[in-house]
Amino acid sequence: MEGEGVQSRKMLRALAGERVDPPPVWLMRQAGRYLPEYRALRERARNFLEFCYAPALAAEASLQPLRRFDLDAAILFSDILTVPDALGRRVWFADGEGPRLDPLIAEARWRFDEPVRAVQRLSPVHETVERVRSELAVDRTLIGFAGGPWTVATYMLQGEGGAKDRARRAVYERGDEVGELLAALTETTALHLAAQTKAGADCLQVFESWAEGLPQALFEPLVIAPTRRLVSRLRELGVQAPVIGFPRAATSEQIEAYARETGVDALSLDTAASASSLRARIGSTTPMQGNLDPQLLVVGGTPLEQGVRQVLRDFAGGPHIFNLGHGITPEAKPENVDTLLRLVRER
Ligand code: CP3
Repeated sequence: MEGEGVQSRKMLRALAGERVDPPPVWLMRQAGRYLPEYRALRERARNFLEFCYAPALAAEASLQPLRRFDLDAAILFSDILTVPDALGRRVWFADGEGPRLDPLIAEARWRFDEPVRAVQRLSPVHETVERVRSELAVDRTLIGFAGGPWTVATYMLQGEGGAKDRARRAVYERGDEVGELLAALTETTALHLAAQTKAGADCLQVFESWAEGLPQALFEPLVIAPTRRLVSRLRELGVQAPVIGFPRAATSEQIEAYARETGVDALSLDTAASASSLRARIGSTTPMQGNLDPQLLVVGGTPLEQGVRQVLRDFAGGPHIFNLGHGITPEAKPENVDTLLRLVRER
């Protein structure tokens, strides 16, 4: 029926290749510390991972931004580092320092659990998806997600984000073991994403946040090949949901190769990428998501207005999902999100 059911989910229409005008909008990290209601909810869990594994709290965190703003999609509230935790690696979030893990590179023999067992441990995350879908309005899209295999591997290898020097060194020095790690991550991630779609996720995003800074010879084996395997494994598992890939801060040649060779259905562009020049390389049919500078949600005013218009112009050559180029920062002002939504939708 027109206007009802799944067909009314604007983000899914854009992902199917339709030029939806105005474009659907959601924002990376739309649930987070810039919202006072998030900070209050977060205090109810002992630590961040427990928060991610508490379906009632995590579902509420997913829904909070949609209670406050007229966004087109909710994203599962979880983290990419639940996967290493489920694989039996120790993960913790030190206040103000970001995530920490016991680094694999310090160990003579790398140990992690079986993918099938790991995914069973992630069942609270799948329950969160079910809860969000049951509370979410029928015309809103629900996004499931996971980290890209290489991005999650970098955290597991060196125990933290930031510079990936030691993770890259491990690729040269212990290539076979890194290959086994990527294979285990790819399989676990495929099973985890398949479970999310079974629980009600409409589409999936793969966050390859550390696609940057790789030499040409390593981009194919570390990013493209594992992502291609991930997407084909999802299809093998019967998952039909569209997959958005986010190869953050890769070069435009690398983004083009990623779009052509991995099988992802849509591209999420980081703040520095140019949608119009990528369109000239990739064509006008690939749905593209992005890419407002998240700092503009801190600054607001005329720069925000100009930034939104610039993004709308840059992405006008094909199907567009309006988003940021990276996650919202804790300093963002909630009222600037309202302004953004008004600017995207005014005509
Ligand atoms: O987008 C959303 O609203 C959904 C939830 C979500 C979180 N993390 C919640 C979170 C998503 C999609 C992620 C993905 C994620 N996590 C990525 C990929 C996206 C990106 O930013 O590049 C990465 C690299 C991580 C790893 C991670 N988790 C980092 C680097 C941090 C620390 C960031 C910080 O600002 O401190 C986290 C913790 C985290 N994940 C928070 C949230 C809301 C903040 C922690 C808290 O509330 O105490």
